[in-house]
Parts: sequence; C-alpha cells; structure tokens
Amino acid sequence: MSQKEIIRTKVKDLLAMSAGQDVLAKGWVRTKRGNKEIAFIALNDGSTIKNIQIVVDKTPETEPILARISTGACIAVKGSLVESIGSGQAVEIKANEIEIYGESDPMRYPLQKKDTSFEYLRTVAHMRPRTNTFGAIYRLRSQMAFAIHEYFHSRGFVYLNTPLITESDAEGAGQMFQVTTLDLNNVPKNKKGLPDYSKDFFGKMTSLTVSGQLEGELGATAVGEIYTFGPTFRAENSNTPRHLAEFWMIEPEMAFYDIKDNMDLAEDFIKSLVKYALDNCRDDIQFLNDRYDDTLIARLEGVIDTEFVRLPYTEGINILKDAIAHGHQFEYPVDWGTDLQSEHERYLVEEHFKKPVILTDYPKDIKAFYMKQNDDGKTVRAMDVLFPKIGEIIGGSEREADLKKLEGRIDELHMKRDNLEWYLDTRRFGSCPHSGFGLGFERLLLFVTGMQNIRDVIPFPRTPKNAEF
Ligand code: 4AD
Ligand code: MG
Repeated sequence: MSQKEIIRTKVKDLLAMSAGQDVLAKGWVRTKRGNKEIAFIALNDGSTIKNIQIVVDKTPETEPILARISTGACIAVKGSLVESIGSGQAVEIKANEIEIYGESDPMRYPLQKKDTSFEYLRTVAHMRPRTNTFGAIYRLRSQMAFAIHEYFHSRGFVYLNTPLITESDAEGAGQMFQVTTLDLNNVPKNKKGLPDYSKDFFGKMTSLTVSGQLEGELGATAVGEIYTFGPTFRAENSNTPRHLAEFWMIEPEMAFYDIKDNMDLAEDFIKSLVKYALDNCRDDIQFLNDRYDDTLIARLEGVIDTEFVRLPYTEGINILKDAIAHGHQFEYPVDWGTDLQSEHERYLVEEHFKKPVILTDYPKDIKAFYMKQNDDGKTVRAMDVLFPKIGEIIGGSEREADLKKLEGRIDELHMKRDNLEWYLDTRRFGSCPHSGFGLGFERLLLFVTGMQNIRDVIPFPRTPKNAEF
C-alpha cells in the first residue's frame, strides 16, 4: 500500500488550517508537561510567536521517546490535526509518530534557567533567538527591513549601495574604525616617522564608514532620489542603551528637496513604517505589549495619528530654560550653542509637547560641515527627529549647495580638502538644492518593539569591549 507522503507545514499555517487532516510539524520544544496518561508538548518553529500543541498518548512505545524530549529539543511530529478542547488554540496535533532530531540536555540548556532577564539573555546571546521575545524581535526586524525597501521602491527611489570601506569621515567626528593590513608589530614608517600608508592594502589610510551620505549625494545628484540601507560603524565610546558600534542606517537623499520637503518625507516615512508594523506584525507586537509594556500599542498608534511638532533649536532652548526657571532639574546645563543631551530631548518630547518633535536650525558649530548655512551666519538647516523614549531617531539636513560656502566651511573646520574633491564636484558641476536624512534602524526598532536597550534589537550587538560571535 503506498502512503501519500506528508510534507511539513509551518506552525503559522497549521494554526490557520481546519481539523481533520494528517500533518507533519517540525520545530523546537518550548515546554513539555502532562499527566499519567498524556503528554502535552508546546512546539515552535519560529514562523509565529504561537506554539502548536502536540498531544501524545503515554504508552510503552511512546514513553521512552517522551523521556528524551525536553525544552529545547528539536523534533518532527506526524499526526492528525484535531480540534483542541483546551483554550488558547483552535487546533492541536494528535501525534502518531515522533522523530527526535536533536535532544537538549535539561541540565545544560541555557534557556532553562529561571533567569530570563535581558541581562542574562545577553550573556547567552547565541541561544536567545530560541526565546519567544527574540523570535518576535527578529521577525519584526525583518518585516521592517522589507517595509523600508517597499516604501522607497513604491516612490521611485533608487537603492544605492555605498562603500563600507572608505577614506572619508563623512560626519567629521573622528569616530572611525581603521581598516589596515599593515603588520601592527612592524608598521612601515615614512620620513616623518608616521605610518606609511602607501604600503597599506589600499595605498592610503582607510576606515569603516560612519555614513553613506556623501556617496549618497553623488547618487541623488545624478538619478534624483536614492536611499542606502546598510551597516554603519562608529568607534564612539558611549556605553548607553541607545548606542552601538555597528548599527544599520537608512539614508535617503533627494535632489530638489528643501528642508521642508525633507521633514515631510521623514515624518511620512516613520509613520508608514509604524503603520506597517501594526498592520503586518500584530501577533508579535501584541505579545511584546502584553509581556513588557502595555502602553506599546497605544504609543505606536499615537504616532500615526499625530502631527509632529516642528521647532527651531533656539525655541527649544528657550523652552528648556523656562523649565529650569520653573524648578525642573537637568543633569547637564542648557546653553544656546551646546548640543542637547538625551534628557533635554526627552523633556521636549515626553513632557512638554507629548509627541514627536522635529528640531531644526541648529547652531552650525555642533553640526556637520555639509549642512546648508542659514542667512543668520550662526545656524544651519539641520533637522533631528526626536521620539518619545528614544530621543534622536533621525538626523538630517538640507545640504549646502553653494561651492564657495561649502569650501569656506571645510577650511574653517581645518578639514583636509584632498579627500573631498570628488564630493565637491557635485557642487562644481550642476549643483542643485538637495536634502537627506539618516534613520537609525535599531532606534526605530527600539520604538516599534518597546525594548529598552539597543543591544536587544540587533542579533549580534557590537559595543565597547564586546564583539562576540
Ligand atoms: O545623526 P547622524 O550621525 O547623521 C548622519 O550620519 C547623517 N549622515 C545622516 C544623513 O543625513 N544622511 O546619524 C543618523 C541616525 C541617528 O539619528 C540615530 O538614529 C542613528 O543614526 N545613530 C545610531 N544608532 C545606533 N548607534 C549609534 N552609535 C548611532 N549613531 C547614530
Ligand atoms: Mg545626529
């Protein structure tokens, strides 16, 4: 008698099927419990936050197999999909045949521990994808990446791949990781006694990129509207819940956009992404909402429905000074000309306006050289989008399109011009008004998942003194 081969169905699809069919499920055991007669196994394969329940009759045949199955084990189960009497799921699998792919020693499996804190899970970051929480976060991360590509593609933006190894410090902040093949124990020296980079792999000093923006501008001033989406590296020694040494950034750059067009795009972009998450990742967001932060969904819905505040930096400083005058205490001082600290940003967003704020027209001395200078001679057409619980989620600006002004700024900052001649060519030949911004992918994910620490929204976080795996 030939039996029709059953093909494996993912848990997500099993849960949507109707009872009365033979099925094959494969996955990892979340829990096993039961009584004298039956065992219940909760099986998960990562296709959804939900488990499928496997019901196994205890018989002399099944007992030895069940004895080898514990949390973390990987199994394949053939059986019939039946209506579930227990609450929580419509269907479950009544097992006929169980194959064990991999056992999981209960004495050693790192996720058995009672300690499920994020701190503990970071110490076993190689296994944490097996938890419900990290499954949800990984799925959300992937869905958001897809939503970003879809957003720009549907608007005719060109996806541009900018280099990861570069000679330019786009932000001019000197936070670059150097890339070299020179023998560090025997560095060749030039006449001045400095490292001789002409002997290095690229024949010059190179680093990992801090931003693809400058190359992005080359693209935008040729094909109109581009975006980048890739890893970015910063050797910032900031051990905060919002900084990574390796993070992903999305950088759209648009010809013929002024600062207002830029703000409109940024606001619409974030709102669309949050809406996409609510529409397409409901189960995972609901799980995170119920488990960790029951204001998450309300916060996400709130952002979609709100018009962001648009506020010049100078007015922001006045609001902060006013707060101090009325007794509010900040750790860091507030003075026109200094950069805002996270506590200041969050005061404006969470306490004063109670909604996202786009802060514009920052003092030129705390912003990068490429930003368009305002007529006041003091400020530039910068825009930072500040979010509740996150602080800065987007940084951007209209770009200085005037060659003379741009060169002047480069000289003022004592930057090396010879690394930037290619960039200045965009202003020499057919210069055009243009703008762009950078969205920190992990900062977006902090917002969408409600997680508190940026180390928990990237699979393999890189932070000072930490580069495991
Ligand atoms: O404000 P930033 O430094 O701006 C730029 O790099 C511009 N070139 C962007 C542009 O105009 N094309 O960084 C942009 C965003 C920040 O708003 C923040 O969300 C994120 O990148 N970011 C970080 N995220 C995680 N860890 C870090 N160390 C980050 N530094 C910046
Ligand atoms: Mg910034």
